[in-house]
Amino acid sequence: MVKKNQKPLLGSDILLARADVAMDIPCMPVPKHAGLKKDGDSLTDFHDCHPMPSTLEALEAMVTSQFPFCESLSGATRCVFGEGNPDAELVFVGEAPSSDEDRLGRPFMGAAGRKLDEIIDAMGFSRESVYICNVLKAHPPENRRPLPEEVQLAAPWLYAQLRLIRPKVIVALGGPAAQLLLSTETGIMQLRGQMAEWRDPGSSLVIAVVPTFHPAYLLRNYTKQVRGQMWEDMQAAVRALERG
Ligand code: URA
Repeated sequence: MVKKNQKPLLGSDILLARADVAMDIPCMPVPKHAGLKKDGDSLTDFHDCHPMPSTLEALEAMVTSQFPFCESLSGATRCVFGEGNPDAELVFVGEAPSSDEDRLGRPFMGAAGRKLDEIIDAMGFSRESVYICNVLKAHPPENRRPLPEEVQLAAPWLYAQLRLIRPKVIVALGGPAAQLLLSTETGIMQLRGQMAEWRDPGSSLVIAVVPTFHPAYLLRNYTKQVRGQMWEDMQAAVRALERG
């Protein structure tokens, strides 16, 4: 499955604009949704009363039916669930849809997505052969970072996706994905470069995780060092796949 003629990462100087400052917006469940109970019920209660479906399609339908999930994400126009091969051995998890993905309803469609496509190709895969999703399933306003409450709300859906796909390797693209999957507050600069594991809190499933930079970070810091580090991480992911 993995081609031997792995190419070096291709160059690009397109910058992806992202707001660096998380705004102080409370994440309150949107009360009009059938699935969400009365104000004051916790998000855990919400997930407790919604057992996860047993197929990816049913999970997507359930998650989509809950859009826009919470007040702080109500500026998004749609749910961006994720896409790709439901039997993928390799899953990429990003942070959140940006405005391009919000417009198109598909993950990683803008400049960062084009860079991710190049990376996937250089690893010897195609976009269709892997699965691509995000921690958040809706676009945060101004492309701000996900709020902790939003991550808490979305995490069970990501876990359910991973549980259904059961990949051999997860590539965590950037801090929010790596921190969620590894249950840590350590930054991506410290996390990258080492293999780690996602331990599903809802089952005995354990999956190898390769924490690495987000492609948007790569675009903003297109240095030989960052390119080299990201490529080392991708080679580690390929080796982990080959080990099985
Ligand atoms: N697009 C996505 O789908 N995810 C990101 O994390 C960034 C851009």
